[in-house]
Amino acid sequence: MTITANWSYPTAIKFGAGRIKELADHCKALGIKKPLLITDRGLAPMPITQNALDILDAAGLGRALFADVDSNPTDVNLAAGVKAFKEGGHDGVIAFGGGSGLDLGKCVAFMAGQTRPVWDFEDIGDWWTRASVEGIAPIIAVPTTAGTGSEVGRASVITNSETHTKKVIFHPKFLPAVTICDPELTVGMPKVITAGTGMDAFAHCLEAYCSPFYHPMSAGIALEGLRLVKEYLPRAYKDGTDIEARAHMMSAAAMGAVAFQKGLGAIHSLSHPVGAIYNTHHGMTNAVVMPPVLRFNRPAIEDKIGMAAAYLGISGGFDGFYDYVLKLREELGVPDKLSALGVGTDRIDEMAAMAIVDPTAGGNPVELTLEAAKQLFRDCI
Ligand SMILES: [Fe+2]
Repeated sequence: MTITANWSYPTAIKFGAGRIKELADHCKALGIKKPLLITDRGLAPMPITQNALDILDAAGLGRALFADVDSNPTDVNLAAGVKAFKEGGHDGVIAFGGGSGLDLGKCVAFMAGQTRPVWDFEDIGDWWTRASVEGIAPIIAVPTTAGTGSEVGRASVITNSETHTKKVIFHPKFLPAVTICDPELTVGMPKVITAGTGMDAFAHCLEAYCSPFYHPMSAGIALEGLRLVKEYLPRAYKDGTDIEARAHMMSAAAMGAVAFQKGLGAIHSLSHPVGAIYNTHHGMTNAVVMPPVLRFNRPAIEDKIGMAAAYLGISGGFDGFYDYVLKLREELGVPDKLSALGVGTDRIDEMAAMAIVDPTAGGNPVELTLEAAKQLFRDCI
């Protein structure tokens, strides 16, 4: 089997090793003549980024780069990105990188066409209909990690730099017109990022699968995503050049994000305030809080997890699955407690208050009350 394919779900996905070389062709097909490549600071000088710029340059599309992007991108990064986009006379965005580059890139393309502040487009009710669709620039997404799944998503997470809260900004036009999934771009990922991003994909599949909302299509995708992570994340972690494992992890990441339209849950509700306050790695934070959340949700998900365990070839139902998660974490060097990520107990009340109003809290199978969130944070720290 060759792991190369063109998919049209949920957007056009050009999947396969080496396919970054098609970048300029896709710009041209979308009518983009002056793209702005947006990525984070760390990735900007890397050979994969420079190679992408070379491909654009060679096709006469310039090599414009905006990389003033924090690991948890903020409204300040966003304003600077929109300014760079407008001043440079750009007509399309290449959102390049992990969650930060992808989310900020998508949001810049969107905000380039808006006059209202970004917070007016938070993912609440029909707020997205406030947007003016005309000026939104076309987006090509190029993921360089395998976790966030933002390359197939219709939202970006932007941190409010004043309140230190993470907000989900939503519009259907955030969905990239084309996504290039080239697993070769993920080969250089350090082990800790492979682990963290991979566990984010796992958390997306797990929480989507467990959420109580009716969406059997997403449940099916989540289940197969879990299987891909189980089979290939340890391999990708052990040998970063294992391109087959890298490819399947890239699929699992996209699948996790497709699946989580069914909902997320308390893993993400706890992880978001921790990330916003302590700037921890999102996926790694998810991995740390996963076992306490599984225990908390057990009464509501025991049967479901039993079915998933059977599909994954794990014996012992819920307990077997729980032990598997602990073992997987250990194998990937995930710390047992949030304290190892620098999180103290002094801000539990504040974080719990943020967790219960996080948009993901509503998808948790057991109601996440303030008391429950405080107790979960105590368990996790
Ligand atoms: Fe996530």
